[in-house]
Amino acid sequence: MTIKAGIIGTGFIGPAHVEAIRRLGFVEVAAVAERGDDLAQAKAKQLSIPKAYGDYKKLLADPDIQVVHNCTPNHLHFGINKEILAAKKHIISEKPLAMTSVESRELVRLAKDAGVVNAINFNYRYMPLVQHAHQMCTAARDVGRIYAIHGSYLQDWLLLENDWNWRLVPELSGASRAVADVGSHWCDLVQFITGLKIVRVMADLVTIHPKRKRPKVEVETYAGKVLRPEDLEDVAINTEDYGSILLEFDSGAHGSLTVNQCAAGRKNRLYVEIDGSKCALAWDQERPNELWIGRRDGPNQLLLKDPSLLHPAAREYAHYPGGHNEGYPVGPKNLFRNVYGFIEGTRPGGDFSTFQDGHNEIAICDAVLKSSRERKWVDVDY
Ligand SMILES: NC(=O)c1ccc[n+]([C@@H]2O[C@H](COP(=O)([O-])OP(=O)(O)OC[C@H]3O[C@@H](n4cnc5c(N)ncnc54)[C@H](O)[C@@H]3O)[C@@H](O)[C@H]2O)c1
Repeated sequence: MTIKAGIIGTGFIGPAHVEAIRRLGFVEVAAVAERGDDLAQAKAKQLSIPKAYGDYKKLLADPDIQVVHNCTPNHLHFGINKEILAAKKHIISEKPLAMTSVESRELVRLAKDAGVVNAINFNYRYMPLVQHAHQMCTAARDVGRIYAIHGSYLQDWLLLENDWNWRLVPELSGASRAVADVGSHWCDLVQFITGLKIVRVMADLVTIHPKRKRPKVEVETYAGKVLRPEDLEDVAINTEDYGSILLEFDSGAHGSLTVNQCAAGRKNRLYVEIDGSKCALAWDQERPNELWIGRRDGPNQLLLKDPSLLHPAAREYAHYPGGHNEGYPVGPKNLFRNVYGFIEGTRPGGDFSTFQDGHNEIAICDAVLKSSRERKWVDVDY
């Protein structure tokens, strides 16, 4: 029988969830909730979703809905996630899981008590060559002992002083911005690929634009904005545009991460490099169909995504033959396949990111903020 899903929030990422769910074939997007009836109905029509609710509480009260996707801004995650769990619906939350680690720890506990399936959208884990890299670092032991893990997450959409989004307001986004918003993806990804855990951090966070110009009207994420000077007002900014972070992993491996939301020309460049005793690996989210394998004792390789060349356990994450490129949308599709397959009883579970992973990322963020404030190394308090 078809599983019925409901989506709360349809800005940038909500429609990406809708598309990914529909590519599964055995799940129906049955309802959407937005802020007010007019917006809900407009979005339902645009996305061809049968039911529209102007209040998410009505979606939670709908007995047809079995799984709820929380795609609202950060400050609503904790409260809405709690209500989804109280309604005993399975839940897929957007990251960050909550605004603080006190809240995220509580959600981990509540999810366990509710006995529902819980997941968080750390989508980059589910790209075919990331899965292959994970197998190379773990089961296959191709990489050997991991010495160092380094990379960056660079974007340019907040480069200018008059770029604006709710993520610039700590009450809506959280005490950390660049690290929580994109650095969290990087930290989750390297821990997933290597199987190692970040245990200590030393961070230097910088607000490149201490003052920005906020539009007096609201702007949807990535909507593209043409505003006149009289539409703008000055606002003080106190979350980081940039961060450099030294990392220590539980194996003793070391690493570093640079995040920057003011890096001209870099759109969504999540880049990871892993130096092992047998070989090195490098992967760039903007070129997701290529995995670089670096060798000391032979020519370096560039593995192009091709299911027949992937580790057997990574093969099901590729849906098209070699040379037929797959990109960003394949991540959520594979995650949702794993989650919904578990709900339906056709997959064993254990192959998707959960609220525990969401909590872990917030714990790392807390340590990063503390380290930057106190100018010293800080242990991650999971
Ligand atoms: N996993 C990823 O790669 C990824 C990518 C982008 C965004 N996100 C996360 O997704 C969340 C949303 O980000 P976005 O970029 O889509 O933001 P957005 O501002 O484009 O969209 C947010 C949507 O939520 C709606 N909303 C606000 N309050 C609501 C309420 N009370 N009830 C119902 N709907 C409500 C808004 O009207 C809007 O449509 C954020 O937490 C962000 O961190 C994750």
